[in-house]
Amino acid sequence: MAKTMRLDKFLSSQNICSRRDANTLTKKGRIKINGVLAAKADVKIDPECDTIEVDGVIIEYSKYLYIMMNKPQGVLSASNDKNAQTVIDLLPDDLRRRGLFPAGRLDKDTTGLMIITDDGDFAHRMLSPKSGIYKTYNAILDKPLSDDGQKSLESGVILNDGTAYKPAVIAFNKENDRSDVLIRITEGKFHEVKRMFQSVGCEVTALKRLSIGGLSLDEKLQAGECRLLTDAEKKSVFSHT
Ligand code: URA
Repeated sequence: MAKTMRLDKFLSSQNICSRRDANTLTKKGRIKINGVLAAKADVKIDPECDTIEVDGVIIEYSKYLYIMMNKPQGVLSASNDKNAQTVIDLLPDDLRRRGLFPAGRLDKDTTGLMIITDDGDFAHRMLSPKSGIYKTYNAILDKPLSDDGQKSLESGVILNDGTAYKPAVIAFNKENDRSDVLIRITEGKFHEVKRMFQSVGCEVTALKRLSIGGLSLDEKLQAGECRLLTDAEKKSVFSHT
């Protein structure tokens, strides 16, 4: 069955204008539905079938938003917080929409790739341990990772409290620097990377997420900046390359 919604709600959900402005635009005869001037802003439309034009421009309907952010340090990956700034607070006005949330958590001091969406199924699929999606982090350590430490991380570690971490893939960013580490994991347990390194005697002094599945952080994004994902990028999250 067709899912209808009010014209003003449609326009605000697509970040075209506020509901109030939709009313003004309608009165000014600037909105057409299937080629016919919209009579009222509260008229029901079917976003998947009807063609909506504002000032002659057809609005391409996107049901959900998928945003890539380069999360800066000191910002919470939460939807709202009384005391601290959140990744949602950083969104520019044109990407603001009710229902957006960060898909997964990064610690307050962790930087890098964060996906913000209002598509719960997408987030669930991305975060489900069953999906086994790789996340790659760049960890800077307080000391070089020993050979034994590397082997432990690569075979999976069990902490004294019983927490078990699956095997990680370890590589080094630069030759001759074993404190600048690339670590690839499939889980997303609390403080996972930091706790894994602690278990082999290293403290993480800086942590940045570089990729999720086949999606890499767009290095052109400065800390705190974001942009929409392309369809190909959205799919690449689920490709395990
Ligand atoms: N592992 C951590 O320890 N912290 C993060 O923010 C992400 C993964």
